[in-house]
Amino acid sequence: MSLPPGPRGPAALTTALFAHRPLRMLHRWHRRYGDVFTVHLTGFGAGVYVADPLAIKELFTGDQSDLLAGEANSFLTPILGKHSVLVLDGPEHLRHRRLLLPPFQGSRVTSYRDTIREIAEREVVRWQPGEQVVLRARMRALTFEVICRAVFGVTEPARVERLRQALGAVLDTANVLLVSDLLRKDLGAWSPGGRLARRLRVADELLYEEIAERRKLADIADRDDVLSLLLQARDEDGQGLSDEELRDELFTMLAAGHETTATALAFAFELILRTPGALDRARTAIEEGDDEHLDAIGRETLRLRPVLDAAERTLTRPRLVAGWKLPAGAKVYPAIALIHHRADLYPDPQAFRPERFTEDDTVAYSWLPFGGGIRRCIGAALAQLELVEVLRVILPAVDLRLVGDRPDPVVLRGITLSPKHGVRAEVVRRRRPEAGTAGSSRSTSSVALR
Ligand code: HEM
Repeated sequence: MSLPPGPRGPAALTTALFAHRPLRMLHRWHRRYGDVFTVHLTGFGAGVYVADPLAIKELFTGDQSDLLAGEANSFLTPILGKHSVLVLDGPEHLRHRRLLLPPFQGSRVTSYRDTIREIAEREVVRWQPGEQVVLRARMRALTFEVICRAVFGVTEPARVERLRQALGAVLDTANVLLVSDLLRKDLGAWSPGGRLARRLRVADELLYEEIAERRKLADIADRDDVLSLLLQARDEDGQGLSDEELRDELFTMLAAGHETTATALAFAFELILRTPGALDRARTAIEEGDDEHLDAIGRETLRLRPVLDAAERTLTRPRLVAGWKLPAGAKVYPAIALIHHRADLYPDPQAFRPERFTEDDTVAYSWLPFGGGIRRCIGAALAQLELVEVLRVILPAVDLRLVGDRPDPVVLRGITLSPKHGVRAEVVRRRRPEAGTAGSSRSTSSVALR
């Protein structure tokens, strides 16, 4: 069984081109090879991109027992731990997923609305006229705090700061080290692996401390943060998550949930500020409490600028995918970015037009920023809520001017698609302080959480 054709040439060159301009390269290969093509990337081997919505539907629905996703993420194990839902497969993955999903359901996450708004308000108050802000960096600080408060349930500023230092240090080191087993080895205090091990020890100590203290709380049943809910959750056999399992899931939610959302927010600002009329339309929606439009901005941002170019599944048995009989062991990438840019699904696909989600009919399995099936993103509702609430606070509060006339190029950062310069903007002026908190802030609409 052979793999479908795709770009030839050395994997190192393909990888360099892909890292430099991932979207451009994916489109080029799609045009040249069609909906199914194989790409060889250094460190990842051969993977088959699939840009056919029907084939993706088949991968995401029905029996998925011959598809693994955890194994492909195993390079994350040294940081996330062996109990992370991201690296598990089979029954153990399902057990963790069942325990993790309830706190992240749409109806639950709305309780974090005020927390998100408060964090965004405190952030934007610091932005001074004349100052340049790197939006992705500011949004990263903000989304980190959302995870700390809503997911970990840590609110005291000094503790949030300690966690930011300790966990941020691990994630910063990890980006470089994850690529190489050798670099990761602990070869003494001054080796990169030694530094990572030391940082992990500090971070783990803090996480275990939070877990232990929370277990002791008498009022845990009254708390609504994810950690407190997970501590009370039980599987079918009446078993809860152990401390080690909880530590791994906390790290996973932070790693999977804060940079991704921050990147999506940075892209949202850029698209709104670069598209004529989009800012006025968004501000009117905020004033009028038109949450459907705000939700559509989030959706259109994730369509045009998906944070992950593809999901990933490894076949355990030969399987027919989009007409190709692929062998066991083949890696299949449902190509989120290519599906999102198909002109037959989204007319004028490169235009930023949120109205397409409120006015046009959309096709099933054509909007996939959070993947799908039994691996669909657990934090999707929280991420969408963050997108809506942060825009609702910041857009009316300040006038921003993007630095430079050209869109920030999309590059590969780790495994995510990211704006190369983080979307830089100048704060032109502050607007009415109360602008972002009018009427709609108390809206109970749930459109953002579907
Ligand atoms: C805009 C922000 C986000 C994007 C674009 C995103 C995207 C994704 C994607 C594409 C996957 C893989 C799905 C698949 O393989 O089918 C995923 C998985 C996951 N995401 Fe997110 N995510 C975001 C935010 C979050 C947040 C806020 C959290 C939690 C706080 C989170 C937690 C997870 C977890 C735990 C998984 C693993 C699910 C599993 O393997 O069963 N993500 N995400």
